[in-house]
Amino acid sequence: MSGSRLLGSGSALPRRVVTNDELAAKVDTSDEWIVERTGIRQRYIAGEGETTATLATDAARAALADAGLEARDIDLIVLATATPDNTFPATATKVQHALGCNGGIAFDVAAVCSGFLYALTVADSMLRAGNARRALVIGAETFSRILDWSDRTTCVLFGDGAGAVVLEAPGENSEGRGVLASRLHADGAQHDLLYVDGGPSTTQTVGHLRMKGREVFRHAVVNLSEVLNEVLEEAKVSAEEIDWVVPHQANARILDATAKKLGIPPEKVIVTVQDHANTSAASVPLAFDTARRDGRIKPGDLVMFEAMGGGFTWGASLVRL
Ligand code: COA
Repeated sequence: MSGSRLLGSGSALPRRVVTNDELAAKVDTSDEWIVERTGIRQRYIAGEGETTATLATDAARAALADAGLEARDIDLIVLATATPDNTFPATATKVQHALGCNGGIAFDVAAVCSGFLYALTVADSMLRAGNARRALVIGAETFSRILDWSDRTTCVLFGDGAGAVVLEAPGENSEGRGVLASRLHADGAQHDLLYVDGGPSTTQTVGHLRMKGREVFRHAVVNLSEVLNEVLEEAKVSAEEIDWVVPHQANARILDATAKKLGIPPEKVIVTVQDHANTSAASVPLAFDTARRDGRIKPGDLVMFEAMGGGFTWGASLVRL
């Protein structure tokens, strides 16, 4: 069994940190409520000159440096985002131009919070099929720009940021390493539980995020547990063999509940939600990069990525580094 190899990672955050207390000065909420219900203590919010494309480009540059590669080595960019710079062209093409890796393939994937899992699986499939040799897979968001800042039930939960990984097509030395198994799902019937109430073809506006948080929570634990088991089964790996789970960072309580259901000890779960809040498609690669750089995740480790988001969409991917 061999899949595309993960050669490096990088991440980027906006300059400005906003703590719960700062938020509580403007919104009817409190640090205590946010920490108790979600685990979030702060988030980064994009300022002037910072966009999804600039954050994605910074994360991509860091991932290239980590992999010891140049922009010209990349012939595929798959960028997951629900907050593109423009309706079109794809933000991936802006990143491609900014990096200077012109001539290859570049496109966006829209699967909201599970966008990185979708992008990783699509890039892995294209690399295996021979469409490209090396890919940048990026998750990047500026959710602060689609939040309704008068809605305390949603605006306290999200933040901005970007994460990226470099993938290489399987080669002679990749036996047992790389992306070992992936599973993706979608259920369009759940549209109204988590969506943005605007768009070019409906309202000609960007719109704001709307969510029924409690119902999303319930679905998330069930769907994530199921898809994690599917991936373990496909890879013929037991939950005990996993070194690290890198989940979508939506809510510390969802992370705890999902890990418990699978029998994975909490110390094997990477949690960064306290620092970044929910950065949607950026959250998995951002958490992964954070844990690689602080020395927790090491070469050779078996890592499970998982996420669920609007649509609903959800998925998981098992990678041997
Ligand atoms: N500050 C203070 N009080 C708040 C608040 C805030 N920011 N947001 C909501 N409340 C209040 C509500 O108005 C409600 O008050 P009431 O009982 O007087 O009506 C109370 O807190 C409880 O609200 P509820 O929505 O039932 O809380 P909860 O325990 O379900 O927690 C979430 C809310 C959003 C944190 C939780 O449901 C959640 O995390 N859901 C999953 C969301 C998610 O992960 N989405 C992304 C998936 S990609």
